[in-house]
Amino acid sequence: MHFSKLKTTLFALTKLIMTMSFLLLFFGCEQVQVKESANHVEEDSHVVSIATPISKEPVLGFSQLGSESEWRIANSSSIKNSAIESDVKLIFQNAEQSQEKQIEAIREFVKQKVDVIAIAPVVETGWDYILKEVKQAGIPVIIIDRLVDVTDPSLYVTHIGSDFYEEGRKAGKYLLDKLPKSNKPIGIVELKGTEGSTPSIARGKGFRDVISSRSDLQFLKSENADFTVAKGKEVMKKFLKEKGRDIRVLYSHNDDMTFGALEAIEEYGLVPGKDIVVITVDGTRKALEKMNEGKINLVVECNPLLGPNLIQAVKEVLKGSTLPKRIVTPENVFTQVTAEKEIASRSY
Ligand code: AHR
Repeated sequence: MHFSKLKTTLFALTKLIMTMSFLLLFFGCEQVQVKESANHVEEDSHVVSIATPISKEPVLGFSQLGSESEWRIANSSSIKNSAIESDVKLIFQNAEQSQEKQIEAIREFVKQKVDVIAIAPVVETGWDYILKEVKQAGIPVIIIDRLVDVTDPSLYVTHIGSDFYEEGRKAGKYLLDKLPKSNKPIGIVELKGTEGSTPSIARGKGFRDVISSRSDLQFLKSENADFTVAKGKEVMKKFLKEKGRDIRVLYSHNDDMTFGALEAIEEYGLVPGKDIVVITVDGTRKALEKMNEGKINLVVECNPLLGPNLIQAVKEVLKGSTLPKRIVTPENVFTQVTAEKEIASRSY
């Protein structure tokens, strides 16, 4: 009798130990997977990882604005890879061009009590309210790539990214040199990026501020084409239909729209780079290749590889260091003479 009771107790104990070992094993693996998955994700997935509460690593919640361009893909990879190489745990959210989704993601980061929040904002305005919420929660914010237009600059610690206004000026200066002053008007068309976004606003302004000194340089058309290949092609097709051979210059705010526009120009029967001077911004390998083929005349570089700077800034912020309000990335311009040399070393 005693023996069978002992046997039952022993059996129950063994079962309990086995269950506990399984649970330990399972949750142990899950943590590893979470850490792994934090850094190996599909571009379009929304949530890359959920930070494990027992982790002592600093947690960075990053709201990426989308995956509209080659530049953006390179930017996301740079940030993910830099996180992998560091001890910073990354929670990555892709907002697919929606400011609402960015705000939702930021609120979620606050709930998760991340250590730092980074935002690549899709547009400049509409951030005051949510950034105040983040400030109240005591979480520092780093803005990367595009800017936010907020009334209180203390709502974010620093901005890391390009000088988009200067990019526009570089494009304008090239055009002044490229086309000597003429008695007849020189028609320009412009493909702008996402409406209300910093690069679209500042690249347009920088360009205009430089070329306004020349009355022969005249805008025929200027439209938003969302920084995408498809929209770039669609809008350029429309420009060509309306203005045809009066178009002498295309100023496109990014490479992807340029790729679409090049197709439209060729389909129309014109030679890009010759019949139409093509100026683009970003500097992806594909753009440099097109320039090497003679289809693009100028590439103004915009550096997407912001990951190392971002991770460094996260560490500095958490150490309590004071960061400069703006960290501007150094950038170049490439002409048909310098393109070939650059192609081999381009990682994106
Ligand atoms: O904000 C940077 C811009 O956004 C890049 O020029 C463009 O390619 C991207 O979509």
